[in-house]
Amino acid sequence: MNIVNAKDFDSMNRKAASIIFTQVTLKPDSVLGLATGSTPLGIYQNLIELYRKGDLDFSSVRTVNLDEYYGLDKSSDQSYVYFMWENLFKFINIKPENVHIPNGANTDADAECRRYNQVIAELGGIDLQLLGIGHNGHIGFNEPSDHFEGGTHCVTLTASTIEANKRFFGDESQVPRKAITMGIKSIMSARRILLVASGVEKAEILCEALTGPITPKVPASILQLHGSVTVVADEEALSRMNA
Ligand code: F6R
Repeated sequence: MNIVNAKDFDSMNRKAASIIFTQVTLKPDSVLGLATGSTPLGIYQNLIELYRKGDLDFSSVRTVNLDEYYGLDKSSDQSYVYFMWENLFKFINIKPENVHIPNGANTDADAECRRYNQVIAELGGIDLQLLGIGHNGHIGFNEPSDHFEGGTHCVTLTASTIEANKRFFGDESQVPRKAITMGIKSIMSARRILLVASGVEKAEILCEALTGPITPKVPASILQLHGSVTVVADEEALSRMNA
């Protein structure tokens, strides 16, 4: 595992974006696994900037997002499909047909999970998967559990995730209770993984995930078993590791 120390959030964004830049430059039709949340926002800004300067071309890039709330309409400004278009896709030259996100409005959740597994398989797997980490160690919406879940599945969000994500909603009661997420197997099958973390509130869980026991109670701990993980984190997020 390669751990890249970044001074602060801006530096983390630039370093992580440069890894994605290199991936797409070397393989223009890369399959990028993408994440939502606060942490990747600055990375997406950097990618948009690189595109505007003419340094990055997304015309052949394919993307698969990690997860989506279940039961939210696609047009909802809280949906992850909305988030991705508003924060990245609408500013770059990606082809809409190359964008893949679980459909949280499909009333048949099992069918949607099967469809999404199929999408990833047909793309030939993920070249580079971008991940954030939840306060409880979740990756995607793979919540702490007594077992690692394999492929795409529907999950019930934990109280701590609902609490953490209520900032994007009016109040806690508005946060959907379920989500569709890629499973641990889907994530671990990615050829490369880029985990990003920022801020002191991630310090404890990042240290536990990277150096503690590998357990489904801390889903991100499984990344210790992946052969090609790069962690880009700022000083605050790495403060427990360096302590
Ligand atoms: C988002 C996702 C989540 C987030 C995690 C961290 O698509 O899959 O696992 O990466 O909850 O979120 P932030 O970056 O908001 O702290």
